[in-house]
Amino acid sequence: MCGIVGYWSETENAFDILLNSLKKLEYRGYDSFGFATLNNRDLMTERKVGKISDTQCERLPGNMGIGHTRWATHGKVNEINSHPHKDCSGKIAVVHNGIIENFKELRDYLEKTGHTLRSETDTEILAHLLEEGLKKGMSLKESVIRISNLVRGRNSFVALSSDTGEMIASRNGSPLILGITNGKEVFIASDIPAFLDKTKKVTYLDDGQICCIGEHLEFYDFKTGNQVQKRVIEIDWKAEEAELGDYKHFMLKEIMEQKETLISAMNQNKEHLIEVAKRINGAKGVFFIGCGTAARVCHIAEYVFSKVANKHINYITASEFENYEHFLLPETLVIAVSQSGETADVLDALNIAKRKGCKIISILNNPGSSMERISDYTFPINAGPEKAVASTKATTSQIAVVILLAYACIENIKEADRILLDLSGKVNDMLNPRYEAHIGYVAKQVYKNKDIFIIGRGINYPLAIESAIKLMEVSYIHAQGFAGGELKHGPIALIEKGTPVIALIAEDKTKEEILSNAMEVKSRGAIIIGVSPEKNEIFDYWIKTPKVDEVASVIANLIPIQLLSYNIGILRGYNVDYPRNLAKSVTVR
Ligand code: G6P
Repeated sequence: MCGIVGYWSETENAFDILLNSLKKLEYRGYDSFGFATLNNRDLMTERKVGKISDTQCERLPGNMGIGHTRWATHGKVNEINSHPHKDCSGKIAVVHNGIIENFKELRDYLEKTGHTLRSETDTEILAHLLEEGLKKGMSLKESVIRISNLVRGRNSFVALSSDTGEMIASRNGSPLILGITNGKEVFIASDIPAFLDKTKKVTYLDDGQICCIGEHLEFYDFKTGNQVQKRVIEIDWKAEEAELGDYKHFMLKEIMEQKETLISAMNQNKEHLIEVAKRINGAKGVFFIGCGTAARVCHIAEYVFSKVANKHINYITASEFENYEHFLLPETLVIAVSQSGETADVLDALNIAKRKGCKIISILNNPGSSMERISDYTFPINAGPEKAVASTKATTSQIAVVILLAYACIENIKEADRILLDLSGKVNDMLNPRYEAHIGYVAKQVYKNKDIFIIGRGINYPLAIESAIKLMEVSYIHAQGFAGGELKHGPIALIEKGTPVIALIAEDKTKEEILSNAMEVKSRGAIIIGVSPEKNEIFDYWIKTPKVDEVASVIANLIPIQLLSYNIGILRGYNVDYPRNLAKSVTVR
């Protein structure tokens, strides 16, 4: 949800570096983008509508600057609403990620006191409030501290002033990470891939902190105004993991990487698995929470825990979590599932849980994220950077960790290891060029349809819902997932001649029933795409999946659906990595 970059150097021209960094954050928003640089105390700006990678930019001079790629919240997608935003004097520029909740009252106040606001955004008020501080004789630092305490909601921003020649960042909610090199240059960004090709040494700005960026970095707590010391840590991501390499799209690259990422996900601290399993077994209520695809993983977790550990866990979409607040006790466990570790609704839910004294566990991909920092235990899924907006490899790795945890609850992690090793070997065999070509062929049969339905039973029911999300995200075809038994309670009315219905089938006790459900719609004209280890005469098209353990069948069945969605999106001519209206990291409620 918006990407921020900033760069300071003693000597280098900032623009090329900002441009390169911002391109790597495009997944966070791609409605419009912009830059501001300081050139000998001249503030230069450039703003454009559209995707940065598709647009020609004019190089701005200067050795420090900021950049922003926007996912619109306040105001239409146009140049005026693009960041950076400036104050009345044009000497302060601000880029921002978040939503200022008291925006209306602050805007009214600024207009009454003579400021001219040009855009419809909430961001612009930050520039004018900073201007007000400087006019009152404050330093830029004091003014940043003042407004950081004034604005409500999750807000992070970076301000650049031509009057003082300074760049200052403030974080409250949305991530900001500094990339540190040799003291001659400093990067700041919403996410590490922005500067991963330049440095792996990072410092995480925490919520409630500001950083004055330059030759010497200074950090302050904006509540107390006190200076704070920060640690520099080295992360072990590889720069090439965040690059396309030989692939045309990140989505395809990330689908293919599942040959390896399932193995990396198994690399968990066994002691932590055992400790958390003990807590799950002794807890008064276990809640799995997440948003979007990660919420589907939580739903899948409900089946995995039931089947493996004979344990009922609750899964809740994080944005609905507050409705369950009264069930929370200090002995309740809340387990967050998230790729980014920054999703606003999940963070809000975790803060509720924290207030109630619950222990917090998280299953995350992004090291050092906000969720990691408020969790008592974190299981990193080790999938490496996931750039395509539609989650693929992170999802299957999260499911793998859920399987490990469920088996840890019955003190049999070895069995989980066996299941996952068997699965990853079979996924490796499955993802070959012939298989890809076959899925491309199936995609050609259905890409012109206006609806696709997906059915599953048992653990493949939540997977049917996830499959629908994948298809919708990248193909814009209306897709819906149902429990096989539910079709005849309404949705069957939508089946007509030629409607594709995908049946997700595992070699388990639900197999016969889901085949009957498929038959019910076939006899009403549906085209059946069977995703299963065994062929069946009712399938019009068959996508073969390997025979694996029942809980692993969701991973084996999901991967071909990811590939099918990708192929349909490509056939329909869409940019599958950056689907319209979506963003990868949703840091607004
Ligand atoms: C967005 C992404 C989804 C993701 C969801 C939750 O909607 O497009 O792929 O599942 O946010 O994000 P998280 O980072 O918490 O997994």
